[in-house]
Amino acid sequence: MDLNNLIDGRTIAAQLLAELGGRIAALKARGVQPGLAFVRVGEDPASKVYVGRKEKACADLGIFSETHVLAEAISEAELLALLERLNADSRLHGVLVQAPLPKHIRQEVVYATVRPNKDVDGFHPVNVGKLMLGDESGFQPCTPAGIRELLRRSSVNTQGAEVVVLGRGNIVGKPMAAMLCQKSAHANATVTICHSGTRDIAAHCRRADILIAAMGVPEFVKADMVKPGAVVIDVGVNRVSDATAKTGTRLVGDVAFAAVQPVAGRITPNPGGVGPMTIAMLMQNTVRAAELAAK
Ligand code: GUN
Repeated sequence: MDLNNLIDGRTIAAQLLAELGGRIAALKARGVQPGLAFVRVGEDPASKVYVGRKEKACADLGIFSETHVLAEAISEAELLALLERLNADSRLHGVLVQAPLPKHIRQEVVYATVRPNKDVDGFHPVNVGKLMLGDESGFQPCTPAGIRELLRRSSVNTQGAEVVVLGRGNIVGKPMAAMLCQKSAHANATVTICHSGTRDIAAHCRRADILIAAMGVPEFVKADMVKPGAVVIDVGVNRVSDATAKTGTRLVGDVAFAAVQPVAGRITPNPGGVGPMTIAMLMQNTVRAAELAAK
């Protein structure tokens, strides 16, 4: 049994970030420093961790960043006014509003307010539409873009492959499916999206050459749902209770990793698979936004 089958997201993300270093140096030589604003609303602990990691990635690369932390009770109008100021700030090439937002704020209105050419998250309707149309001039969401890059740099052939995506969220599932069904070199797959309304998810999973789990159910994918030799990508970040852990909880993915790894051909570790790629793609989108603005 070959258990040396990990797709190492940390190493691949480091390669990507090293490649970006040269592009950032070229921008700086022209007097342009890429800049990214983070907006975080409330005290969601996971959002704090994610934004902190993104800030660190900016600092490590020499990307300017600033973070706006707003109270949970802020009105939608106040948040939109801040976004308009950030849209107008020429030091900033990207504006990112960390999800989730409080319930009284309409997420779709927020994402439609960030200018499409600063929408490094790829959530603005114009960028979502461009992704559907196969128009690569837009920004694409970082997590699915990172997974596509992981597959490409791990020489996983997607041409004609059966891909099953578990989850239909706007951040991962839907854009992932849209990317991999495009008629292009590193896509051209037959994509099935499964979700809570799917009748026999296990039967779909067992047909998959590439199985992408992004529905947010702890250790949902079991060994008997995976075709031997399949490529398994675990996007899940789920906190579960664990009496043996010091904090009383631990993080698990959407894949029962220990059981699935021996069946899979290749598999992402979690952590250390998709997460680092999401951040690397955010940095790439920000550098690209700065390059386009500097043209
Ligand atoms: N929350 C979970 N994933 C993401 C992401 O990729 N971007 C933002 N802004 N919020 C998120």
